[in-house]
Amino acid sequence: MKPYYERAGIALYHGDCHEVFPVLEPGKFSVMLTDPPYCSGAATSSAKTADPVAKYCQNGDAKGRPTFSGDAKDQRSFVAWSVFWMSACRRLLKDGGYGLVFTDWRQLPSVTDAFQAADFTWRGLIAWDKGLSSRSPHKGYARHQCEYLVWGTNGKCRPRADAGPFPGCHHESVRQADKFHIVGKPTELMVKLVEFCPVGESLIDCFAGSGTTLVAAAKSGRYGVGIEREEANCEIAARRLDRFFESPERQEN
Ligand SMILES: C[S@@+](CC[C@H](N)C(=O)[O-])C[C@H]1O[C@@H](n2cnc3c(N)ncnc32)[C@H](O)[C@@H]1O
Repeated sequence: MKPYYERAGIALYHGDCHEVFPVLEPGKFSVMLTDPPYCSGAATSSAKTADPVAKYCQNGDAKGRPTFSGDAKDQRSFVAWSVFWMSACRRLLKDGGYGLVFTDWRQLPSVTDAFQAADFTWRGLIAWDKGLSSRSPHKGYARHQCEYLVWGTNGKCRPRADAGPFPGCHHESVRQADKFHIVGKPTELMVKLVEFCPVGESLIDCFAGSGTTLVAAAKSGRYGVGIEREEANCEIAARRLDRFFESPERQEN
């Protein structure tokens, strides 16, 4: 299988992660850092199965960004599917490799269950604090200000001499100019998170979206493989990577 995009140690595959896992080398990756569809964002089943643009974009305005797939599973199938991909991806990690999976408050219990069922050793949570511009339905609410990373290791957590301890909370607001996917993560947040991966080693993001994890890896001297099912998002990721590789910022490194 040929990558959709490949340059300077960064590869992006277009396809379902389960089609791509078998072509990757078991035990190669130091980190799995990924942001799967949350299958959240709605209380009723009809709202849950709505287009992600309606679920996650204020007033249904995607600001020209493409939609994405895989976000309509009900709770039981979400857990079963999560165990399935987490187990397959864990086999691609080194012994002691890290797993970090984004989720929100609604799906946190399901993701911690799936993570352990997939034989990761669950070691904690990292909060991403998006700040006070986060939405709250009305004044009686606490803001849904944080998303979370469930993190752990494939076996033992080895002592590190090169980095860490890593922050358990990151404060990073969402800027529209740095958002290339309707639920894209800030590039600077991902730059901080790729620190789990030693410089010169490889990470995997099996739900790459607009390629933010890969851009962060490239910016900070890591290698990486991404997988994304929607071609429109692959194209956005490829153009972002090209822009980085051709930027003065890269030339200086
Ligand atoms: C939450 S988004 C990732 C956004 C990304 N972190 C960013 O900053 O752009 C999840 C992505 O996973 C993709 N996806 C869903 N199911 C998939 C599957 N089975 N295999 C590969 N990609 C999938 C979706 O199309 C979507 O773009």
